[in-house]
Parts: sequence; C-alpha cells; structure tokens
Amino acid sequence: MKVKINTKAEKAEMQDLFGIFFEDLNHAADGGLYAELVQNRAFEFCSVDNPEYHGLTAWEKIEKGGKTELRVEKEHGLFPENPHYLVMEIPEAGEDTGVWNLGFGPGISLEKGECYDFTCYARKERGDCEQLEVSLRSAKGQVYTCASIQMTEDWEKYQLTLQAPMDDRQGRLAVTAKGSGCVELDFVSLFPRHTYKNRRNGLRRDLAQLLEEMHPKFLRFPGGCLIHGGSLHAKDRDSLYRWKNTIGPVENRPACRNNWGYNQTMGLGYYEYFLLCEDLGAKPVPVLPGGYNPHTHEGAVGDELKEYIRDALDLIEFANGDTDSFWGARRAEMGHPEPFHLEYIGIGNEEVGEPFFERYPLFHKAVREKYPEIRIIGTSGPFAAGREYDRGWRSAREEGADLVDEHYYQSPEWFIAHHHRYDAFPVNGPKVFLGEYASHDNTWFNALAEASFMVGMQNAAHAVKLACYAPLFCHRDYVNWEPDMIWMDNQGAVPSPNYYVQKLFMNHHGDVVLQQEIEDKGPSVMLSRYPDSLPGGIVLEANESEVVFDNIVITEEDTGKQYTYPKTVVNPDKPKKKLMDVSSRDYTIHLHARELSGKKGFTISFGQQDEKNRLFW
Ligand code: AHR
Repeated sequence: MKVKINTKAEKAEMQDLFGIFFEDLNHAADGGLYAELVQNRAFEFCSVDNPEYHGLTAWEKIEKGGKTELRVEKEHGLFPENPHYLVMEIPEAGEDTGVWNLGFGPGISLEKGECYDFTCYARKERGDCEQLEVSLRSAKGQVYTCASIQMTEDWEKYQLTLQAPMDDRQGRLAVTAKGSGCVELDFVSLFPRHTYKNRRNGLRRDLAQLLEEMHPKFLRFPGGCLIHGGSLHAKDRDSLYRWKNTIGPVENRPACRNNWGYNQTMGLGYYEYFLLCEDLGAKPVPVLPGGYNPHTHEGAVGDELKEYIRDALDLIEFANGDTDSFWGARRAEMGHPEPFHLEYIGIGNEEVGEPFFERYPLFHKAVREKYPEIRIIGTSGPFAAGREYDRGWRSAREEGADLVDEHYYQSPEWFIAHHHRYDAFPVNGPKVFLGEYASHDNTWFNALAEASFMVGMQNAAHAVKLACYAPLFCHRDYVNWEPDMIWMDNQGAVPSPNYYVQKLFMNHHGDVVLQQEIEDKGPSVMLSRYPDSLPGGIVLEANESEVVFDNIVITEEDTGKQYTYPKTVVNPDKPKKKLMDVSSRDYTIHLHARELSGKKGFTISFGQQDEKNRLFW
C-alpha cells in the first residue's frame, strides 16, 4: 500500500478533537479525584441517596471505659442547605469516648510524613466536655498522632494539621471528648496537604497528574446520566444536577443524591471543574440538563422550565462575564476574577424523546440570542437508539446546533469495522461530538480497536470536532460501570491500555488533517453505514472503470448474520448491481476489491437511492 500525503492541501482543521469526559460515577469524585478523605463529612447521607444510607453512614462510636450515644439532628444547624449535624452524648466520661470516620473503601489512606488538614465546626452543648481530641488512628485504635481543640458553647470553625508518622491504608479519623456532657459536630473534613497544584478543597495529585499528562483539548463534565436523574425541583434532596448548587462555600452546597446510587457532596463543583480545565489547559465543555428527566419522563414547564434556561445563560455569565455582572462577581468572590473562556455548552445527555426535543429549541434560541459566539451542543442519544437517534440529529439540524453529542459502547470488532463511519458525514450542518465511546473491555486489543477508530475520526475531521472516551475513572471498591479508562483505589491508580492510546493521540494532536491518497488499498476495505438507516437495498456501482470484488461479506450488526458474495464485477457500462434488500438496522460491509484503476473507484448505496446514503470509495 502506498500513501501519498499532500502537505500543502489542508482537508480539515482538527481544532479540539480529542479530550476527556469526567462523570462522578464509580465514585470518581467523592472518594476519588476530590481529595476529601472523610465520607459523609456533613452528616447529610440519607436513604434518598441509597437505601442503605443514614445520617451516621461511615461513622462509628468509640466508647472505651465510658459511654457514647450518637444521633443526627437538624434543629439548630449552621448551614441552611446542609442542616444536619452530629450530636454526641457522653453520659459517662471514660478513657476514650467519641466517634471516628471510616473514610471511603477500606479506610483513610495515610502516607508517612504527609500533613493532613483537619476542619470541623463544633460546640459544647452541655457538660464539662469542652476539650476535643482529634487523632489519626489505625483500624485497631492505635493513636498515631493527636491534637486538641477547646470549644465554646457557640458553633465555631476549628482547623488544625496532623502529620502521619506511618503509612496505613485503613486509617481512621477520630474525634473524642474529654469529660461528659454533649458535643455537637458538623462538617468534619480531612484533606492531604498536597493536592493537585496545592489548591485548598483540591484534587488528588496522582489522579489529576494522569489527566494533565494526557494534554486533553477539552474536558466534558459533569455527566452523563448524572445530570438528568432526579427531581426537577432545584430544592429537592434528589434534585437534577443544578450547577448553582455546586458553587460558593463548600459547607453550604446542598449535598444531593447521585444518579449512580450514592451521595455527592458537590465539593467538586462547577468552580473546581473550571479551575481543573484551566490547570489542564483543556477547554471546558459543561453539559446541562434540558429540564427533562428521561428516566421518569417528567419535564419542567412554565417558570420552572424558564429557570433551567436561565441556568444555561447564567452559567455562561459565571464563566465569562465581567466582574461587575452578577454571576461574574460570584466567580470573582470565589477567587477567579479572570474569565474561564467558555466556548461550548451542551444541553442534554441522551435525552431521546419528544419532551426533550420540545424543550431543546427554547434553550438553543435563548443561548444563541444572548451569546452567539458560544457553540451549542444538542444530543442524539445513544447510537443504538435507532429512530430516536435519527430524531436527535434531525432536531439538531432544524435548530442549527453546532454539534451533536452521540454515544456508543460497542465490541472492538465494531470499532474496527466502523473505521470509516464518519467519512460520508456532511461538511455542512452540525458537527459530531462523540461525547462517550468505548469498546467493551480494557485489553490491548480494545485499545487498538479504539486507536483505529480514532484514526478514522481524525481523517473525518471535517465532520467530527470533539471526541472523548467514557467513563474516565473507577474506584475499585465502587464499580458502577466498566470498562473504564483509569482504575484507582485510595492509594494509587492503574491507567488502562485504553488510557495510553488516548494519551498518545492527545500528545500528538495535529492542527489540520492533510489530504491523502491511498494507492492499492490492500486486501480489504471496511465500510460502515450512513447514520440514517432507511429501508431499501445495498447497491454497487462502478464509477469510471471495472471493479472486481473477490469477496463481499455483509454482516447484520444485531444478529451477526452474514451474507457472502464470492465474486462480483461492476462495470460503468452495466446497470447498478443490487446485492440485497436491507431493513432498518446497522450493517458492516467487508469488501475485498481489486483493479481499482479509476480515480473514483466505486459507489455503494444504502437504502433509498439518494445522495445522502451513498459512500464513495
Ligand atoms: O458513561 C456511562 C454512562 O453511559 C453515562 O452516564 C451515560 O451518558 C451513558 O449512558
């Protein structure tokens, strides 16, 4: 095979083609990238998050000698959005009475020599128990290091630092009281001193470093299904993901149910996502709910829908607005007067269904009118959704979306067979944002199949503008979904072969795709279908000279059934050759062709015989 590359002829700009997608599933945020070591720090866990949760999840009492009783109350809490706090009754003072936190997974991971920043809000409610002891311990109770706090009867914030004298993978954070009486505690937090870029309320260094080394062009966040599961009402405990609930002081960001069956503290919120983008040199690609929950089929109406649309506009102001704008001022208050340079915004994630397509145009129009420079991303839903997927593309074309977010998780063979999937996508109209894709495992073969597909996307850069693998992280003790790009536990991470492929492409990201000409294409050619699968036939037609197909194999993707045509000749002087009828499904066609002497080779048509469903080779 000979490949000629014309270094002067630019075929398409690659722009921001390869990036990453962060979603808080598999405990990717709390217990993962977000460096907080205390689980249920604000005592807000409840059965709405997970039927097994309660206010004392991940907390256990310590009562050596004396007695301790624990309960969670909310009558006079400090933080209106997170009203619960711990009440620790110590009717009988003892040698060691109080509470400890179990952390995530097997425990709090302590590293010898590392300093840990402790924060809590506390008050002595009654008795002579005004002195608190804060300690790092082993799971057996051995105290490694300890510091004291003197409380008053008012809620106050206390901060101190503890240094771990040894490594322990199953450490505990204990808060015990001297004397008897009643102590109230809230927002008990422990962070390693060294976070990524040493930011307060920061991210785990090792994990963020892996992202930095990829050099992603963009970061899509925060989901995924994460954004559209839950109640439509912003104030509900299981509200849909609302970005405004994720900014401001961490203590008062309302903890919320996560679509993946656990609690999200929102400690890693929109402000932190934007900072991460800046630190990584990646463009932010936030995705907002479209005011519709596709799981319950409920959609916001009237003023409530206007609020969702408002959220989209306000987010752009939060990211880009001057510091004298309302939301720009909030960004500045949090410590970032400079804008975050938002260029993209996504509306909806896989929300196939008419209620979404009725609402999307309202978002689109509002954003386009106020911020014409922002690129708007619609959604087609998963590729496997068939007609709904086509409906998503139609909606995007009708509204004039800049990009369409499509998703698929398929076999490695599928990715190899669909190498040319986007070749025939039009140059004009909405572009592809492949917002989620992965082949079904983390082996080298999967990674290679994805690499082949990524080459295909590069070559089709006229149509594909953004693409990111999913999911990004998985904590080995909390698996919601696999495969994943980076596997982790509390100590470290194991990047998959798929990670290294992604990193390779991002580290060698070009600016433009050059025109190429392939002479003698080798023994086989694979073609994938055009996105609209319409009833009709598969027809071959020679363009300028006779083409001999030694072997053609057509595979029905869903059934695996194969149709084989051993030798087929097409000639420009003869009528088109119809191979078979097709129904509305995906087909993969493997061709072994020779004598491709004519420049334009052959044409293969799918479905109705119009321009849109033709692929040229
Ligand atoms: O990546 C995992 C999930 O797959 C995403 O949350 C969702 O968008 C898709 O169905």
